[in-house]
Amino acid sequence: MYISRLKLKNWKNFKEVDIPLTERVFVVGPNASGKSNFLDVFRFLRDISKPGGGLQKAVTERGGISKIRSLAARTFPDVEIEIHLSEYGTTVPLWKYSVGIKQEIRGYRLPYLTQEKVWKGEQLILDRPDKDDSQDHERLTQTHLEQINANREFREINKYLENTVYLHLIPQILKYPQAFAGADLSGDPFGHGFLEKISKVNEKTRNAWLRKIQEALKIAVPQFKAFSYAEENGRPHLEAVYEHWRPKAGKQREEQFSDGTLRLIGLLWSLQEGDGLLLLEEPELSLNGAIVSKIPALIYKLQKPKKRQVILTSHSTDLLNDRGISLDEILLLDPVQEGTSIKIASGIPEIKLMLQGGMTPGAAILPRTKPKNINQLTLGF
Ligand SMILES: Nc1ncnc2c1ncn2[C@@H]1O[C@H](COP(=O)(O)OP(=O)(O)OP(=O)(O)O)[C@@H](O)[C@H]1O
Ligand SMILES: [Mg+2]
Repeated sequence: MYISRLKLKNWKNFKEVDIPLTERVFVVGPNASGKSNFLDVFRFLRDISKPGGGLQKAVTERGGISKIRSLAARTFPDVEIEIHLSEYGTTVPLWKYSVGIKQEIRGYRLPYLTQEKVWKGEQLILDRPDKDDSQDHERLTQTHLEQINANREFREINKYLENTVYLHLIPQILKYPQAFAGADLSGDPFGHGFLEKISKVNEKTRNAWLRKIQEALKIAVPQFKAFSYAEENGRPHLEAVYEHWRPKAGKQREEQFSDGTLRLIGLLWSLQEGDGLLLLEEPELSLNGAIVSKIPALIYKLQKPKKRQVILTSHSTDLLNDRGISLDEILLLDPVQEGTSIKIASGIPEIKLMLQGGMTPGAAILPRTKPKNINQLTLGF
């Protein structure tokens, strides 16, 4: 399954959105245009669905409804999210899930549901608020999606959303997890527990995945020779051997790996692990352009057989220069007066023409994400 349509109302800088999504989606736009906020919609649905999660926690972790609701929201104050789920390769919805949220005006000012709906195909099978909700208002502080005894008929949606993975690996956090000890963030987005995650996979699978990563690193990282998993005093580590002028130079540990090496390891691991929705935040960071240009093909090759959807944000021309990317797969975030609008690149006639004229998607689209007055950014030097 994959998410084939997304509708939003008042989600952060998106006042209103209604767009189809493909199995692979590239989200591009200027700084602060809402790319990360766009990915956060799917993380929010995951946080509602996962065990130990739920609506209240998902909203609190984001600083409350006032932080989520678009500053441009006026006459219609509710935040609404609707997704359609379809079989891979088709666009007919198998499921639709819609949720509307508001904040109580008085009392604890808890977030509560203004509506929650589920359609199986076109048939509406959940329509809240229902009779029970009207007798007990407190029920509206929880979704049925998060409750095992209430989501039996649409558990498939819950399981799908729960398996969403978001990756924005920050090498320094992986290298020095003790220095970044604090509250655990949902889904470990920055790689704090990345090594523990590797340690929990059974040995045979782990070795098979690491071998694939090793082959890629041999190509991408000069002098890189071999790569393995090790444990010391119960703590997991990654070790690498480099070709060196001193034949017995010894192994290097993750603290000594370069930022790009670690980000590539994180990317290649996450592409192999799991089969739920994968959200990648700027996978190009720290990587050489030649490697970045291979990311779209790598995603295609590793995700297609698994029928897994990947949504990624990017600023990189190298990444979008792949001619295998279709314009339907690119979402262009465009800051307008009241927030951000989303355009599908295939819907912009000039871009279509530029591609017909031989340009790559990156060369045709990314200049549009440049700030208008960029030449003035000289800080007086
Ligand atoms: N509730 C809200 N209403 C309106 N705008 C909001 C809201 N919450 C956040 N924003 C705006 O969203 C912007 C940040 O968006 P986001 O972090 O998604 O950008 P981005 O495209 O990922 O940028 P970058 O490329 O720098 O990572 C900020 O400018 C912020 O003002
Ligand atoms: Mg961002």
